[in-house]
Amino acid sequence: MLDLLVTNATLPDGRTGMSVAVQAGRITEITAGLAAPAQETVDAAGYLLSPHFVDPHFHMDATLSYGLPRVNESGTLLEGIAVWGELKPMLKAEAIIDRALTYCDWAVAKGLLAIRTHVDTSDPSLLAVDALLEVKERVAPYIDLQLVAFPQDGVLRIKGGMDNLKRALDRGVDIVGGIPHFERTMADGTASVGLLCELAAGRGLPVDMHCDESDDPLSRHIETLAFEAKRLGLQGRVTGSHCTSMHSMDNYYVSKLLPLVAESGVSVIANPLINIILQGRHDTYPRRRGMTRVPELMAAGVNVAFGHDCVMDPWYGMGSGDMLEVAHMGLHVAQMTSQKGIRACFDAVTVNAAKVMRLTGYGLEPGCDASFVLLQARDAVEAIRLRANRLRVYKRGQLLAQSAAASSALSLPGRPGSTSFSTSL
Ligand code: FE2
Repeated sequence: MLDLLVTNATLPDGRTGMSVAVQAGRITEITAGLAAPAQETVDAAGYLLSPHFVDPHFHMDATLSYGLPRVNESGTLLEGIAVWGELKPMLKAEAIIDRALTYCDWAVAKGLLAIRTHVDTSDPSLLAVDALLEVKERVAPYIDLQLVAFPQDGVLRIKGGMDNLKRALDRGVDIVGGIPHFERTMADGTASVGLLCELAAGRGLPVDMHCDESDDPLSRHIETLAFEAKRLGLQGRVTGSHCTSMHSMDNYYVSKLLPLVAESGVSVIANPLINIILQGRHDTYPRRRGMTRVPELMAAGVNVAFGHDCVMDPWYGMGSGDMLEVAHMGLHVAQMTSQKGIRACFDAVTVNAAKVMRLTGYGLEPGCDASFVLLQARDAVEAIRLRANRLRVYKRGQLLAQSAAASSALSLPGRPGSTSFSTSL
C-alpha cells in the first residue's frame, strides 16, 4: 500500500489528470489515471501540483525587525544599512531565533521549503551566526536552510572583516558571501572578490556574493566574479546576487559580459521586490527600475532565479514569504508578459532557485522527494496571477500545512440570486 496518492493533478509541464504515488517520502510513480490503495488519497481536482517553492536569497537575521530601532524613512539601501547598524548592538540571540522561526512558519504555510539566507558576519561576536545555525538545526525537519557568510559592512572595509567571515565558516556556515560594491573603492571591491573566491576554492565551498547592488553603470564586480569562477574552476558553484548595476550598463558592454557570465556557470539572482524599491532612488524622472537584465540573461543561457531578499526589515516593510508575489513582481518589472515569460518567472522561484541551492531530490519525477505544494490554480500562469492559495504543502510525503479552497459568495443588489465563485478558472 502507498503512503500517499495524489490524483487528477495538473503538473507544471502541462500534463493533466496525473496521479503521483508516494512511498517512504519519495515519489515512486507519476502516471495518468493511476488508482492504487494508499493510506491517504488526495483528489487534486485538476489543480496544479508543483515542486515546493525555493527562496535562494534572503536575510533571516534581520527579518520581522521592521521599525527596530526606527523605520528607514528614505527607503534607500544605505539608510537601511545604517538602521541595521543601529539595531545590531541591541540584538539578542533569542529574539533573532524567535523572529526567524516565526518567518519559517509563514514560509511553510506558503509552500516555501528551501531558503538560502545571508547572515551578517560583521559583528565579531558572531551572535547572528550562532542564532541562525541554531535555527537551521531546528527547522531541518521541514525547511532546507543554507547560510551564507555575509560581510554586510565590507570584508576589507572594516578591521577584522575577513577574520570574522572565516570564523563564521569554521562554525558551520555553508557558503562564502561578499559585498564588493560596499568596499571603500572599486579596487578594494575587485580585490575582495578575488580573495573570497580563493577562500571558497580552498575550502571547497560555494560562493554567493551581493554583486553590484547599485545603479552605477560602471560597477564591474559581476565580471570579476565570473572571471574568478572560471579561473578557479568553480563553475556551477558561484552565484551573483542582485547585479542591479547591469540595468544601467552600456548595451555594448553587456553584450560582451553576458557570454562571460554564461561560460562561467555563474547563476544570477534578481530580487524584484527589493530592487524596484531600493534602486533608482537618486533618479528624478525617468526613474530606473534597477532590476538586472533577467530575460537577456536567461536568453544567454544563464541560470536566473528570483529571491525575496527581505520581509519586514530595515530595507523593506512588506512581504509574507510568498514566492508567487516575488514572481508576480519579477514578471512586471522585467516585462516578461508572454506565456513563456510568465512560466520562466515561475521557474525562477522553483527549479532555477533549486539549481542555485544545488538541492538534491528536488522535482516532480520518480525518485525525487515528495516535497510539493498543491495550488488552487490550473497552471503556473494562473498561480502567479492569483498568488494562488496553497491547498496542501508536503515535505517528503508528510502534510505540513493546508488551507481550505478559497471562494466568495455574492449577493448583489439588482442581480437576482446569489452566486459563489473562485477566481481560479
Ligand atoms: Fe540581499
